[in-house]
Amino acid sequence: MSNYLPKPGTIEICPSILSADFAHLADHVAQVANEIRILHLDVMDGHFVPNLTFGPVLVKWLRGCFPKLFFDAHLMITDAPQYAPQFVKAGADGITFHLEAVNDPHAMIRQIRQLNVAAGVSIKPGTPVQALSPIIADVDMVLLMSVEPGFGGQGFLPQSIERCRELKKMLRKDQWLQVDGGIDPTTTPLITAAGADMLVAGSAVFGRPDPAAACRTIRDAARSYQP
Ligand code: DX5
Ligand code: ZN
Repeated sequence: MSNYLPKPGTIEICPSILSADFAHLADHVAQVANEIRILHLDVMDGHFVPNLTFGPVLVKWLRGCFPKLFFDAHLMITDAPQYAPQFVKAGADGITFHLEAVNDPHAMIRQIRQLNVAAGVSIKPGTPVQALSPIIADVDMVLLMSVEPGFGGQGFLPQSIERCRELKKMLRKDQWLQVDGGIDPTTTPLITAAGADMLVAGSAVFGRPDPAAACRTIRDAARSYQP
């Protein structure tokens, strides 16, 4: 049984476990579990991006520790159609694939729908937002990368603000706009003012001594500057 994606209308802080302590992962995630509804899982294969992270087995064990959190799997892999079912079986509640990585995005979305989880599509900083036009109506969320995917702790790319604004115009009210990369209390107000409502943050949450307080600080920054 999977968790449902909440309906848009709030600002969600989605901590990325990429910056968490993998030797004490469940304990680290537990520190933010009461602050959040969505946990961001960065899956990397060393091909689509020059880094490796984890596979379905880690999702399975985390799922057991956090049955109520929405698990959002951000697949930075070349073969999303092959591996998506395994991530869903392990407990992912949403699958986000990269537009750049699949030959047939419509088929990928259909596959995710058949798996009965939320469907997201992501674009890298170099991909024009208009490339999403043919499929944008069919997804639950769009994930705009505001750094080159692959690593945490990079600087926010300022052109992401205008890209976010353009994407917001292309989306309906019942669709989420996620931004991922370099999100912290300084960049948050800029990106929420441009329409983002799901903020993925790795180092600004798990890289801080008090991750729960860090989530609250980002949420406060988002609230105080909303248009
Ligand atoms: C990068 C990942 C991000 C990463 C963000 O490829 O998709 O989710 O964890 O890390 P920060 O928030 O440190 O930029
Ligand atoms: Zn991510």
